[in-house]
Amino acid sequence: MQVLVTGGLGYIGSHTSVLLLEKGYDLVIVDDLSNSNIEVLENIYRITGKKPVFEKIDLKDKESVSTLFKNYDFNGIIHFAAHKSVNESVNFPEKYFSNNVGSLENIIAETKLLDKPMNFIFSSSCTVYGQADSMPIDESFPLKKAESPYGQSKRECEEVLEKLNESDFSFKNITLRYFNPVGAHPSALIGELPLGVPENLVPYLTQTAIGIRDCLTVFGNDYETVDGTCVRDYIHIMDLAEVHVICLEKLMRVKSDDFFKVYNVGTGKGSSVLELINLFETVNQIKLNYKIGARRKGDVVTAYANTSKIEGELDWRTKYSLEDALKSAWSWQKNINKNE
Ligand code: NAD
Ligand code: WQD
Repeated sequence: MQVLVTGGLGYIGSHTSVLLLEKGYDLVIVDDLSNSNIEVLENIYRITGKKPVFEKIDLKDKESVSTLFKNYDFNGIIHFAAHKSVNESVNFPEKYFSNNVGSLENIIAETKLLDKPMNFIFSSSCTVYGQADSMPIDESFPLKKAESPYGQSKRECEEVLEKLNESDFSFKNITLRYFNPVGAHPSALIGELPLGVPENLVPYLTQTAIGIRDCLTVFGNDYETVDGTCVRDYIHIMDLAEVHVICLEKLMRVKSDDFFKVYNVGTGKGSSVLELINLFETVNQIKLNYKIGARRKGDVVTAYANTSKIEGELDWRTKYSLEDALKSAWSWQKNINKNE
């Protein structure tokens, strides 16, 4: 079973690749290393004892994608590759549309040339819901105006896949709307590796705890939430990775040539920024330097998932807690610093 994992050296892709290799899948990882490091490949090998094929390809490049599909016979594709910085997308929107939407279109064009329906999993995001009118968010909620070009690029990708589903073309797709992935592999050999100053809470927090950053700023404490700080649904990266394996197996079992589903992937539980900080301090026995600052533009107040669709239809449950995630994130941070 040859499976293409695009963006397979990135945060979510590397954890998913580990699980797929452990399950015996034959992987081809494609990454242009624009937001990852080739050493991740070695660490995937150290964890699994298996070496996936690696192709350094920019998926924006139509010809390279075409050659890729000529050289391999994929039975499944998990498409993680995308740029994901909300801030950067505001300054360089075109970079986000051309990469995130363009790469998807290049891959789909190649699958159209094959004589079999592709099993395809797409990485979308809870960002497509914007500030939802009520909680928890289920998949039938309306998609709101995107807060950023990044968010808009994910919406456009979803539209491309929806149109494909409505067309005559045979294609099997599961689109996953991730909530907030956090934590690292239990080995601490792979984890989230932000380049430059992290935008996301947990990497900023662990970098502050280890002394790379002086102080974590909590973006606003005057929201209408349990303690005034924003609420998110933080899901352990290993739980999120497992969903991809389950979805791939589901798609491969589906007899029909057409299949289209959208699932939220979260825990169903919301945690505030202060709750997360306190939990991090408690489980890791460490004091964090943080201060309350101004609200961050574009932040939604509260977002957590209704997970009954994925739990019911795919019989999936989370196995890890937020405590596990925050412990593993800290072990990972200590491990990267040890090596520097
Ligand atoms: P990441 O940046 O760690 O991984 C993405 C990988 O794709 C990187 O290794 C990057 O080098 C590669 N890549 C980007 N453009 C490419 C191109 N044109 N050709 C080849 N490789 C390319 O990001 P991640 O956190 O692992 O996210 C994976 C996917 O999940 C993305 O589509 C992202 O938008 C989506 N997502 C992420 C989050 C999150 O909080 N991390 C939440 C919701 C959705
Ligand atoms: C979480 C909470 C911040 C940093 C972003 C993207 C979204 C999705 C996930 C991909 C918020 C607060 C953060 C800091 C803070 N990605 N915070 N101080 O905002 O839910 O979503 O990542 O699709 O599209 O927008 O995640 O980790 O940035 O923030 O107080 O230094 O932590 O205000 O409440 P967010 P995040």
